[in-house]
Amino acid sequence: MTEGPQRAASRATETAPPPVSNEPMKGSTMTQAHPSTAARIAAVRGLENVIAGDTRISTVDGAAGRLIYAGYEIRDLAARASFAESVYLLWNGELPTETQLDAFRGHLVAEMRLPSQVIEMIKLAPPSAHPMDLLRTAVSALSMYDPDVEDRSPEACERKSFRLLAQTITIVADMHRIRHGLPVLSADRKMSFGANFLYMMRGLVPDEEERAAFDLLLLLHLEHGFNASTFATRVTASTLSNMHAALTSGLGTLKGKLHGGANERAIDIFGKIDDVDTIEDYIEGMLNDGKRIMGFGHRVYKVEDPRARLLRSHALALCTRADRAELGEIAERIEQVVLAKKGIYPNVDFYSAIVQHALDIPRAYFTAVFACARTAGWLAHIREQYADNRLIRPTSNYTGPTGKVAHPIGDRR
Ligand code: CMC
Repeated sequence: MTEGPQRAASRATETAPPPVSNEPMKGSTMTQAHPSTAARIAAVRGLENVIAGDTRISTVDGAAGRLIYAGYEIRDLAARASFAESVYLLWNGELPTETQLDAFRGHLVAEMRLPSQVIEMIKLAPPSAHPMDLLRTAVSALSMYDPDVEDRSPEACERKSFRLLAQTITIVADMHRIRHGLPVLSADRKMSFGANFLYMMRGLVPDEEERAAFDLLLLLHLEHGFNASTFATRVTASTLSNMHAALTSGLGTLKGKLHGGANERAIDIFGKIDDVDTIEDYIEGMLNDGKRIMGFGHRVYKVEDPRARLLRSHALALCTRADRAELGEIAERIEQVVLAKKGIYPNVDFYSAIVQHALDIPRAYFTAVFACARTAGWLAHIREQYADNRLIRPTSNYTGPTGKVAHPIGDRR
């Protein structure tokens, strides 16, 4: 891992630290400031623009609105490759031939089963548990049943990658079925990966339009550079903890509403607007109150998120087809108003929420569906981290007091 330029004067910590003195404080047994405070440099808030490592997996060009998976533009992959093909690309560095893809998909489908103890755990979880919390807990529990858990050899990591991607999807699908009192379903070897996922959740074989929209949604969520959750998985992997632990860190990080959790909130706005003519006032009210419009804005993209652009037409088509054309109209109007008033664009979560809603996936599962796709990206990063590891351990500016003396408890006032 390499360290990039770490300073950004405009992002310096807002409060000036107290002057550092190496003189002993009066009545103090502490005679020296911590060495790190002597040579203080400004922290970069939110690590914005900090280069935290090297990767061959993907890159995001926020100024040009480009996303590249292992050398391929996302719009090319969206037009010519499936989610499974793109996972193969990230795990192997090249797109598969038909024979390679067939074997790859067969391997994944064969791993779509869970230990009975994990199924029991899903059944025992309180119905109020959020799917992301249950998914995180179940992935963590899988570590106790994986024969390769502590083996970090490339062969074992490859075996675990198939298993973990297949099991993550199975957990989400089974959780949905179990919680709705429905029997769990097995994957069908003949169906594509995305079609299987939808089928195992909803119990209906998706038609071509649904399959195409859902497969694209998975492909667009697969990978996105050093975002917060991917970075979390790499930090955990860098301690040489196991793959399950690294994924558990990623899942915990993805859940937050500024990250993957935004898609669940993004759909809420549609419940509050039923007339296109009221959108402008509604958005203005939110912005005036300092509220964020979920599914809009991005840390890296300063122009349109290419993933939102690619998903938009599928979202609008699914809305029309589901006799919910007004949802598409509202979405387009929200987009225009937020851009005009705040200069920000929708991100992938805005249209992902609409696609999932139109596919009858319950709101509580939106982030878990995102997580299933991103798991494949996380797995690629974990393996890349293991292959050339250096413990990720940054430092911080200490802004607290120094020179205090610890008195015995009876002497404290
Ligand atoms: N609604 C209203 N204003 C916004 C929004 C938004 N969604 N996003 C950014 N802004 C404003 C922000 O108030 C600030 O305005 P001003 O300069 O007037 O104070 C300006 O844009 C810059 O915002 P920032 O907070 O410095 O930007 P950031 O890089 O820290 O935030 C973000 C990135 C994604 C956290 C933010 O855009 C946001 O909160 N969006 C809503 C949540 C969301 O949709 N998250 C999903 C991100 S994409 C998928 C993923 O990674 O999971």
